[in-house]
Amino acid sequence: MRGCCGKRDISPTAHGVWHMARIQELFVTQIYREELRQGATSQLLSELLAAAREVAAADRAGQAWSKANDYPGYTSYASLNDLPDRHPVFGDLAAVLDRHATAFGRMLEFDMAGRRFALDSLWINVLKPGGHHGAHIHPHSVISGTLYLSVPKDASAIKYEDPRLPMLMAAPPRKASAKEKNRTFVSIAPSPGTLLLWESWLRHEVPVNHAKAERVSVSFNYRLD
Ligand SMILES: [Fe+2]
Repeated sequence: MRGCCGKRDISPTAHGVWHMARIQELFVTQIYREELRQGATSQLLSELLAAAREVAAADRAGQAWSKANDYPGYTSYASLNDLPDRHPVFGDLAAVLDRHATAFGRMLEFDMAGRRFALDSLWINVLKPGGHHGAHIHPHSVISGTLYLSVPKDASAIKYEDPRLPMLMAAPPRKASAKEKNRTFVSIAPSPGTLLLWESWLRHEVPVNHAKAERVSVSFNYRLD
């Protein structure tokens, strides 16, 4: 079909219809989310919160490490590696987390080749008002995650970063109104009982905690056995 001046008309309306190009979504970053607030797990949550506070108050080595390393609050990350053995409620949590890690691995379609996920580490975080945790990844792990136990009003969300960020080079930033899947940073605001899992290479941070009270969570890593 030729338009005026003998030029070929290649506009989308040349045939009277709009041709809709398709977008194929590849290499998608997946975040697993479950709310553990119903039934028996709601009891588990309140027991975990009480146990986390108890451990935070008693763990002198963890308190000292948090202070020495400028952790704004308390973390058992460097002081306790046996929470599931130390306190039965963390053992119950580990059993719940195992099921979710396995489910996430299925969704990611990992070919496990007879291997299984093993809980590598599990630690408590008590983030004070005004505290934050800079961007990081979780080395030596396959799946990482956090279960939120206490999330006061205005508490920090968790902020994930597009893993392709170092390759953006000359690309312009995304619009403030961009769809979530097109953004470079995505924040997820948890509630008490929110469980989030992600692949351990995904960089994330905890921005400043604007709540007037502590934000309490339990984080963990899974490796392959
Ligand atoms: Fe983390």
